[in-house]
Amino acid sequence: MSTSPQPDLAVKEKWGSKIGVVLAVAGSAVGLGNFLRFPGQAANNGGGAFMIPYIISFVLLGIPIAWCEWTMGRLGGRFGQNSAPGIMFALWRRWPAKVLGAMTLLIPVVIYMYYVLLEAWCLDYCIEFAKGGFAEMYAKITTASSDHTAEVQAVVEATDAHWETTSGGSEHGILLREGGRTIWLVSICFLVNFYIIYHGVTRGIEVFCKWAMPLLVLCAVIILLRVLTLPNISSGLGFMWNPQWEQLKNPQVWLAAAGQIFFSLSVGFGLILCYSSYLRSNDDVVLTSLSASSANEFCEVILAGLIVVPTAFLFLGAENATKGLFGLGFVTIPAIMHFMPLGNFFGAMWFGLLFLAAVTSSLSMLQPAIAFLEDAFALPRRASIAILGIITAGGATLTMYFSKNTLALDHTDFWCNLMMIIAATFQVLIFGWVIGAARGVKEMNRGADLHVPRVVAFVIRFITPTFLIVILVMWGYHNLPDYIRGMNPARQGIVAERAVYAQAIEDNFTDTGLDAEVLASKVEELLGPEEDQPVNVAELPAWLQQHQETAEEDRRAAAADANIARFVFMGIIGFYIMLVVLSDIACRNRIGRMIDQWEDSGAGWETSP
Ligand code: ALA
Repeated sequence: MSTSPQPDLAVKEKWGSKIGVVLAVAGSAVGLGNFLRFPGQAANNGGGAFMIPYIISFVLLGIPIAWCEWTMGRLGGRFGQNSAPGIMFALWRRWPAKVLGAMTLLIPVVIYMYYVLLEAWCLDYCIEFAKGGFAEMYAKITTASSDHTAEVQAVVEATDAHWETTSGGSEHGILLREGGRTIWLVSICFLVNFYIIYHGVTRGIEVFCKWAMPLLVLCAVIILLRVLTLPNISSGLGFMWNPQWEQLKNPQVWLAAAGQIFFSLSVGFGLILCYSSYLRSNDDVVLTSLSASSANEFCEVILAGLIVVPTAFLFLGAENATKGLFGLGFVTIPAIMHFMPLGNFFGAMWFGLLFLAAVTSSLSMLQPAIAFLEDAFALPRRASIAILGIITAGGATLTMYFSKNTLALDHTDFWCNLMMIIAATFQVLIFGWVIGAARGVKEMNRGADLHVPRVVAFVIRFITPTFLIVILVMWGYHNLPDYIRGMNPARQGIVAERAVYAQAIEDNFTDTGLDAEVLASKVEELLGPEEDQPVNVAELPAWLQQHQETAEEDRRAAAADANIARFVFMGIIGFYIMLVVLSDIACRNRIGRMIDQWEDSGAGWETSP
């Protein structure tokens, strides 16, 4: 069938041990999503009630999608493929496989471009705690305040200011101009990641995860024991976990739960596909997948869920315990350490474990692209590393440059979250309808230590895709229109300009005792009825015209922010198109030939070479 040379059939690398693969996949899953994202999501979306959509999403989305990915990945590996385009094309020789493969290849690389920055910030905070930098900062302020509430406020404000400097939140470009430290830390993270990846799946990723995972769990358990023995911690646990049942009627809570499962388990973005392709054809996937997912849930719900928000509530009050990812992670937690005995030690340990968790995840974001470059273009490891290093360094530099209010990071995350759900939907559809759920489940059970029941085939064919499509539609309905409006610079400029005048009107009438409704109609009367209608400054009263300069400044800034949203979107689309083209070329050439050769040599669904 093919005339290409024999080396394409060279035996590929395989995982060294079962515990190694479980720890590597668990390491890919356990990351900042568990320790930073989950606590905030749960606390802000119904507390204990959040666990209902969360567990439903885990059972109906997380576990079945992970099983599909593990099975398809192992199958792809049987055809000598370790990258998403190759794996999907080996299973389905049609163009949608290449398009989906390219998307699955894109997601982890793009996530890495901002994830590495978060990793660098964790390293930064770990070092700062270890050398007493935070204690020094707090020592300056606490001497001035005596009562607890004022002290909390002062500590939170100081940590907030520190975070703004660290993240370059005040101005674009500031991290590159003045942030030598950030550049160094990001470079260190790049070196660590690429050094490990360079050593390959077994000697690099597996060895690293084998000691990093137990170490990070040990650190988290030590911190948890400390937290659970704090006086009054039950009030914090109650704050986090008491269910607010009425939140279950809110579709955003369901979306948040499903999104958390995707991000946290690393399903839908091809990491599992890639890692499982290094399994042998009769290695178990069912129990291995469940073990890795359970390890992830243990770290997320038990370790992170009991530590972060309850402690924040105990020391800093409700307001600080319900911040979002960055507020909770980089403001609230450092502030807690000031009030906790041995705070410097625990602070360094906490951010150290976050750093380890982040590295085990970011490694898994790089391996799929390395595998693609090696499989598709026969590039040696060094060349693949260099190419991926340049691409991701470019992306990370842009993320660092557009740092104001973590704008580039947030926009990138937004599109990646959407693409994850789209990719997972197509993966499950291919598994359930193209491969065939019954045939797929039979393959899943090959060599399994624990056989999945037949009902799983039904779930994969009908329930999971339906759930995913409902999520996609809900997501599109609730989030997309506003987001797309936010990408329009002219409209965003007008909205910002009107906000300045509206605030000035409010300030002007504050002392007159007008109620909110009358005030709103006053704003409408002076500015005109439509939210996105430009303000005719000439028609405004003179006292309001005095705000023109600020309004114009805000308009320009908002328009620039909207342009960044567009830029991120165009960048991701451009990169995706490039990957579709590359996937197509590769599948027509080297990857296609390789699959043919493996087939010729006896690889297939029913046989294992
Ligand atoms: N699953 C990884 C995390 O939770 C990406 O951080």
